[in-house]
Amino acid sequence: MKTIAIVSRKGGAGKTTLAVHLAVAAEIKGKETAIVDLDPQASAAGWGDSRSQETPAVVSAQAARLAKVLETAKSSGADLAIIDTAPHSETAALAAIRAADLILIPCRPAILDLRAIGDTIDLVNLAKKTATVVLNAVPPRGALADEAIEAIKGYGVAVAPVRVGQRAAFVHSLTAGQESDRRTFRPSSV
Ligand SMILES: Nc1ncnc2c1ncn2[C@@H]1O[C@H](COP(=O)(O)OP(=O)(O)OP(=O)(O)O)[C@@H](O)[C@H]1O
Ligand SMILES: [Mg+2]
Repeated sequence: MKTIAIVSRKGGAGKTTLAVHLAVAAEIKGKETAIVDLDPQASAAGWGDSRSQETPAVVSAQAARLAKVLETAKSSGADLAIIDTAPHSETAALAAIRAADLILIPCRPAILDLRAIGDTIDLVNLAKKTATVVLNAVPPRGALADEAIEAIKGYGVAVAPVRVGQRAAFVHSLTAGQESDRRTFRPSSV
């Protein structure tokens, strides 16, 4: 089983949006996927509760239980675990980072978000790991994303070659326990 941690100490960067959509994209590709929700606000778990489909499985957990929960997911046959984290818990973010094969940091192409990713990257460095920044909520037009990539390069981390666009469908799907239409969020474009 592979594990992806989605971390950002900035609230509203798109952690939960990325977690649930990646999980659905992985399920569509035939990977049994579990979302582990470490956020006490339980947004991903709430999304799971409001779904009519049973997959992906969503489990609410505390950081201290993460290893055990991942072990259970693995022994239950999961191919992939995706950990959604809270913005303000350093302990939970670190636990997720340490457990992960891949660490994704969603970041909006906006100055406050770009300034804030330094804090998240510090945590990744503390765990002696590497992370990839995923630009999220990129407007359909304009040079913001390209400017953001230049700024992110200054932190010495990788930037995912694909970007997630700013789409109302992402907002609606989170509310409705659905995923955005596949034309909006194709697994190949993430
Ligand atoms: N690509 C996008 N296009 C449009 N809206 C988006 C996009 N990504 C996220 N949003 C919206 O922005 C808000 C914050 O997103 P989300 O909850 O995924 O962020 P988060 O990092 O998990 O927040 P928190 O730090 O509070 O857990 C939500 O209303 C979500 O629907
Ligand atoms: Mg969230």
